[in-house]
Amino acid sequence: MSDLEAIVDSATAAFAACSTPADLENAKALYLGKSGRITELMKGMAALSIDEKKQLGAQINVAKQAVEALLNQRREALLDAAMNAQLATEALDVSLPGRAARAGGGLHPVMLTQERIEGIFGSMGFDVADGPEIENDWFNFTALNTPEDHPARSMHDTFYVDPLDGQPTDTPPLLRTHTSPMQIRHATAHVKAWKASGQAVMPEIRVIAPGRTYRVDSDATHSPMFHQCEGLWIGANVSFKDLKVVFTDFCKTFFESDDLVLRFRPSFFPFTEPSAEIDIQFAHGPLAGRWLEVAGSGQVHPNVVRNMGLDPEAYIGFAFGMGMDRLTMLRYGVNDLRLFFDGDLRFLSQFQ
Ligand code: PHE
Repeated sequence: MSDLEAIVDSATAAFAACSTPADLENAKALYLGKSGRITELMKGMAALSIDEKKQLGAQINVAKQAVEALLNQRREALLDAAMNAQLATEALDVSLPGRAARAGGGLHPVMLTQERIEGIFGSMGFDVADGPEIENDWFNFTALNTPEDHPARSMHDTFYVDPLDGQPTDTPPLLRTHTSPMQIRHATAHVKAWKASGQAVMPEIRVIAPGRTYRVDSDATHSPMFHQCEGLWIGANVSFKDLKVVFTDFCKTFFESDDLVLRFRPSFFPFTEPSAEIDIQFAHGPLAGRWLEVAGSGQVHPNVVRNMGLDPEAYIGFAFGMGMDRLTMLRYGVNDLRLFFDGDLRFLSQFQ
């Protein structure tokens, strides 16, 4: 192999070994720079004869062009590689589906149930009342005829709240364990307004009170926060029969089913006497034939009527408290209560 061929071979190897443009410019200097190997050969021609110069000069030129061509090839290859690397890091997958413009939000399924309940009871002449979630012992227990040491107090596992500075600590505030305190709150306000009005006969108390309630409980069918809706109807002659009619009508309308059956199963609550759990049974669908508990109810206890500011000899009525989460699960066929509170849009958007 001639010197020139050796130089071209060595340049090929040197350029190929360069992995950055800077390396390549350094390697170029070794061949084509001021004291590079090809430049040195050309300088060495000064001492040769004209003929020798012509012959060798032509050969050196061929070699020089070959080295320059190799250099340009390698430059382009390195530029391509740099470009590809950049493209890879800034990759934009144009085949990805675009982000759809989401339709506006919707109501939570339990709120859909609440609106439905309000609509149905509204059509039967019931008002809707709202009350505090942080309650005190009087409204949550005592006014509802629950004695100090009564087992009903431990029946509900209660979240107690630290009292605010300066407030008495003998009965700490609590997160209401049911919506029943609204019976007392609403009735006492109603009675006060009636007495101030000077009317001889009290307009009937007919109200529902939906809202959040709290108990220390958590599994597939219990959540520490859940929703109830209280119902109360008090007048001169409101009977258990009226409770049956109103609640049966409500269930048939709510579930859009005329052939569901209700069962009033004897039970106990301190604030009602007699008391009943209300079970429903569907005639059709996946739950057909099973008894499903949906509410507690009963004739309001005379002590509670008295705590409303009324004479139990003159006023009587019924109350019920239903589980709104339960009603929502039954209506939509949801089998795990926790789905309502996970905030997963894949679940929630199905109700819009
Ligand atoms: N407050 C009762 C409960 O939470 C339900 C109820 C309400 C029962 C009104 C009777 C009357 O279980």
